[in-house]
Amino acid sequence: MEIPHRDRSDAIRRSLCVRRAEPRDHCDIDALVHALGLSYPAMDLSCFWVAEDTDGVVAAAELKHFRGCSLLSCVGVRQNLQGLGIGRILVEEVVRHAPHDIYLYTLVPGFFRKAGFTDAESLPPDLPPRSIYGCENCDPRLCSCLVRLRHDS
Ligand SMILES: CC(C)(COP(=O)(O)OP(=O)(O)OC[C@H]1O[C@@H](n2cnc3c(N)ncnc32)[C@H](O)[C@@H]1OP(=O)(O)O)[C@@H](O)C(=O)NCCC(=O)NCCS
Repeated sequence: MEIPHRDRSDAIRRSLCVRRAEPRDHCDIDALVHALGLSYPAMDLSCFWVAEDTDGVVAAAELKHFRGCSLLSCVGVRQNLQGLGIGRILVEEVVRHAPHDIYLYTLVPGFFRKAGFTDAESLPPDLPPRSIYGCENCDPRLCSCLVRLRHDS
């Protein structure tokens, strides 16, 4: 019998641990971001956070810091576990640890808007441009730059 979506979601969330990635996670992160097509040339495995359950790494996100801003990239959840609330839990935890307002460029703004991100009105001078993702073949009209402001900034 198939487990109902809500029960599966509750069980996974109970067993989930979100933490900074360690060197032992790098292989799993690399496999996950490649499987989801999220890797990019300047990706830095030492800047990742992971969500882990009893089966290992199920989601990852990269958070880089610059002068006056942070950049969130490569947010991804293992394909067979998407839609269960893992992405939201991971983003909430990562955002809590950012020392600055958090910016991101994304093709899926709907998910991030639900996580409290809004359109970035202006970009801080030290925020890397979207071209770091090597997205020259991508339609820029589909790519949103969003920000989640820190309440104390
Ligand atoms: C996008 C992604 C990270 C979301 O993680 P997830 O665990 O599947 O999402 P959650 O279950 O936590 O969803 C939280 C909320 O966002 C919504 N949501 C999820 N994915 C969404 C999407 N692509 N567009 C709009 N809303 C979305 C959910 O419906 C849910 O809404 P609710 O609270 O009203 O029920 C995940 O689906 C993924 O890895 N996608 C492929 C890689 C990708 O595109 N990453 C983004 C790169 S910038």
